[in-house]
Amino acid sequence: MDLKIEPKKKIKGEVNVPGDKSISHRALILASIAEGDSKITGLLEAEDCLSTMNIMRKLGVEVIKKSKGEYTVKGKGIEGLKEADDVLDCGNSGTSMRLLTGLLSSQNFYSVLTGDHSLRRRPMQRIIGPLTKMGAEIFSRRGGLAPLSIKGQKLSGIKYKLPVASAQLKSSLLLAALQSEEETVIIEPAVSRDHTERMLKNTGVDLEIGSGKIILKKSKKRKLNPFNIKIPGDISSAAFFITAALTAEEGELLLKNVGINYSRSGFLEVVEDMGGDIELLNVREEAGEPTADILVRSSQLKAAEISGDIIPRLIDEIPLIAVLAVSAEGKTVIRDAEELRVKETDRISAVVNEFRKLGISIEEFEDGMAVDGPACISGGKTLESHHDHRIAMSLAVLALKTESAVTINGSEIINTSFPGFAELLKSI
Ligand code: S3P
Repeated sequence: MDLKIEPKKKIKGEVNVPGDKSISHRALILASIAEGDSKITGLLEAEDCLSTMNIMRKLGVEVIKKSKGEYTVKGKGIEGLKEADDVLDCGNSGTSMRLLTGLLSSQNFYSVLTGDHSLRRRPMQRIIGPLTKMGAEIFSRRGGLAPLSIKGQKLSGIKYKLPVASAQLKSSLLLAALQSEEETVIIEPAVSRDHTERMLKNTGVDLEIGSGKIILKKSKKRKLNPFNIKIPGDISSAAFFITAALTAEEGELLLKNVGINYSRSGFLEVVEDMGGDIELLNVREEAGEPTADILVRSSQLKAAEISGDIIPRLIDEIPLIAVLAVSAEGKTVIRDAEELRVKETDRISAVVNEFRKLGISIEEFEDGMAVDGPACISGGKTLESHHDHRIAMSLAVLALKTESAVTINGSEIINTSFPGFAELLKSI
């Protein structure tokens, strides 16, 4: 599907972005293995989370839709899942595949996980390695590629230093470790999103967190209490609208109910650093997650240098930082972001190639990029989504700044994380 974006000088309005994707996956998974009924509101009903939901249903869990975004999950307990009679399809969702491989490795049955052509190219050895050390039996295509076939069994605990700051990897190991009675210790090289830890603690699991370590305490038969959760808006989805407002000639946007968890809010820090006019209003805690309304106004931006430990706290927003950099005065440099090469597509090369089509001066590094701004952007071009939702949406926001309309090919991929994106963009 093609998405045509016309240039726009004025961005104004109020926006409610959909529920957080990472929290939605975890809510579905943890509610499924809790002992009893959990209630979820604000669940993101996008393809990625629906993949997780369908898989939990195939594993015997009743997930009942009450109204838009509102579900009751009839948790079966950690040992209550049953073997699915077919292959489990994760679609485009790396979070589904990595978290569920952990969970299923310790179940007493056989599972096969697959996904679309993008997911079948993404590295799974990073989870297969440590899970195998815990005693898991996982078979993959050569090089640790999906489909993954898992002969579930009792696992031991593990003490493991993550080679990459990856929330999907640590969550996979924590889910696998839940059924082991032994202690598990995970050491993080840098902070990555901590929703799994927060939610496990809220369900009564004995986790100790501090100084870069997560310790799942030794325990006989662990039990997760059911829970009620109201999922905040996704900061990664809000970031597209924040960028649109900041870079507009006339921009003022209020984004309601957005999660601002420290492990996810690196983007807001960069925006401030670049001189962006952004205010957090009504800061509060909801469902164990810091949440706020965000007021953004168009701003004269200046270039920034981004590298090091902040990278995992803004990893999904880097294409948007590149979009901000196009409007900013000076050279913005992004380094230490080699993880972008193994996302839904190689996001460094996708950003560089598509930006160059619009005449933007952008340099490619193995671990990042540098953008010269401010740039006048030619329009009238057709750009590619690279089968990546965040690339498609970042290009759509960039296209608002061009001289004439831009078309984005393959924009249906946006539905994996943000159904209704184009309509919401139009509304402001
Ligand atoms: C996610 C973690 C991040 C992020 C992805 C969602 C999660 O990936 O890029 O969009 O929900 O745990 P990594 O953990 O692989 O960095």
